[in-house]
Amino acid sequence: MDFEKENAHKDDTFKVPANLKIPNHLAVTMDGNGRWAVSHGKKRTQGHKAGTDALRRLVEYSIKYKINYLTVFSFSSENWSRPKEEVNFILRLMRNYINSDLEKLTSNNVKIRIIGERVGLDKQTLNLIKKAEEKTKNNTGLQLIVAFNYGGKAEIASAMQKIAQKVLNLDISPSDIDEDMITKELYINDVPDPDVVLRTSGEYRFSNFLLWQSAYAELIFIDDYWPDFNEAIFIKTLKEYSKRERRYGGVEVK
Ligand code: IPE
Ligand code: MG
Repeated sequence: MDFEKENAHKDDTFKVPANLKIPNHLAVTMDGNGRWAVSHGKKRTQGHKAGTDALRRLVEYSIKYKINYLTVFSFSSENWSRPKEEVNFILRLMRNYINSDLEKLTSNNVKIRIIGERVGLDKQTLNLIKKAEEKTKNNTGLQLIVAFNYGGKAEIASAMQKIAQKVLNLDISPSDIDEDMITKELYINDVPDPDVVLRTSGEYRFSNFLLWQSAYAELIFIDDYWPDFNEAIFIKTLKEYSKRERRYGGVEVK
């Protein structure tokens, strides 16, 4: 099926199957680009390139299945430790992705937001981030949240710094600090917590992704490498989520 050519959100002939529970917020750690490349006798960078195409597919499916928020882990604050050549390639890919897809994302009513540390990013990347957010800020469809130069612990630490400053200014006292206050100081505070955190490539870790926000997320792990992500895997994930019973620490209500 060619999702590239069709305007998925305008296709009202597609009805989301009634037996599928659709998460309001889906978060994805797109893992396994490097191993995918090696398993195909290619260079790691080719894996990242194929991973970008998989991201395009994920965005199309998310629109088609009417997910409201999609957060993707594109580059972690720890990924800088990779060989410079690979890091530069990934940064270039991300810029190319925005450059080539921004028009289409805009016309598909996607609102793009980028979370992560901006300090230390090059000007070119910063400008593109700004352009993508600015151009799509009034869109009302899928919110595509890209975690870039992102680390969950750093996000919480930065929230703490802002709160500590308020204590220092005597605006609040330490006993005023509660969960809501911390949530408000995160990179984004108007997005509901993820219902599902999906990780590909058979790795069972958080890797510092949305630590605070994932307290009650359903964790789904699949063995496929990220570049192989397709609609069947997307549906499999939704089916798995549909089976889960979310109790938030309570008991099942019959
Ligand atoms: C995920 O694929 C993409 C990024 C972290 C940027 P990896 O590059 O982590 O692929 P593996 O884990 O080495 O296979
Ligand atoms: Mg990895």
